[in-house]
Amino acid sequence: MLDQLNQLEEEANVALEAAEDNDALDAWHKRYLGKKGALTQMLRSVGELPKEERPAFGRAANAAKTKLEVAHEAREEALRQAEMQRELEQGALDITLSGRPIQPGHLHLTTQTLRRIRAVFAEMGFQVYESPDVETDDLNFGLLNMPPHHPARDMWDTFWVSDETLLRTHTSPGQIRVMRERYPEPVRVILPGKCYRYEQITARSEHQFYQVEGLAVGRGIRMTDLIGTLTEFARRFYLPDRRIRIRGSYFPFTEPSIEADMDCILCQGEGCRVCKYTGWLEICGAGMVHPVVLRNGGYDPDEWSGFAFGFGVERPALVRHGIDDIRLFYGNDLRFLHQF
Ligand code: FA5
Repeated sequence: MLDQLNQLEEEANVALEAAEDNDALDAWHKRYLGKKGALTQMLRSVGELPKEERPAFGRAANAAKTKLEVAHEAREEALRQAEMQRELEQGALDITLSGRPIQPGHLHLTTQTLRRIRAVFAEMGFQVYESPDVETDDLNFGLLNMPPHHPARDMWDTFWVSDETLLRTHTSPGQIRVMRERYPEPVRVILPGKCYRYEQITARSEHQFYQVEGLAVGRGIRMTDLIGTLTEFARRFYLPDRRIRIRGSYFPFTEPSIEADMDCILCQGEGCRVCKYTGWLEICGAGMVHPVVLRNGGYDPDEWSGFAFGFGVERPALVRHGIDDIRLFYGNDLRFLHQF
């Protein structure tokens, strides 16, 4: 019986070497190791042996079975590798085929504009001060000289978080925060950030938009310093040789208050659709910091003076790039965003 076993094992090994594909391997497995396979039959017939020969034969047959199983697996793996190699050589799997290109993103136009504005003011010696989007009623209105029921509050309706807290309507509350933090040092900062207003969305107005506030507090600061700063900004941000026009205006937190216009960069002051045929584009609201606001910030208005200004970020970007609808900034349309 042992001789038969050895012969069978030898024969199975030779047959395995001859198996060239998966079908042949399956047939081989069935023939030797399957339920009715030759080795399985031989194992079953162990009961026919004399009692004393059974253990030795059983051990030898089980060992042969294990060896054949291992050899079968190894042959299967060898055939798989050979197949893969063949496919690679024949180019069936072309690993050199280029993938889908990854679209690199870039900064949003608003961020680009904000960065340019920051850079221009940094050159002029202004630091950046960040203040929160969620403000108290007091900082957004009261301390800026708009006590409860002041009619000027109607110009800036907003989204209320509670009776006392709101989403800021402008970056001006940051003026109080920075003054209280810096007193008794002089201040020269810009305060960029998002503002919110409860108002109708149109081609020129959004309910969320960015502003950049400017604040300088010191001794002997005058209106001419403000006008010089705005003129210099317009020339550095837009184009050299810009002309600035000053109009009287009203803000509760500045006295006197002004609005600054710049000659239209598209028509050079001739008059066009963008400047509504006036030849001028509004750049910002501004003025000398109101004595009440200076005092609320901790500075004695008899000793200190200052100027402040505030302008939008999207509207200058509209002008600079000839965009005709502010809603595109928040529309998330890549066809628009990829142009900048
Ligand atoms: C103010 O918000 C004042 N706080 C500005 C100021 C600061 C004056 C310091 C004096 C001293 P106004 O409401 O005009 O002012 O807004 C300023 C700028 O924000 C506007 O010129 C415009 O560019 C931008 N802006 C206002 N509302 C919107 C809106 N709904 N959508 C887009 N931009 C807006």
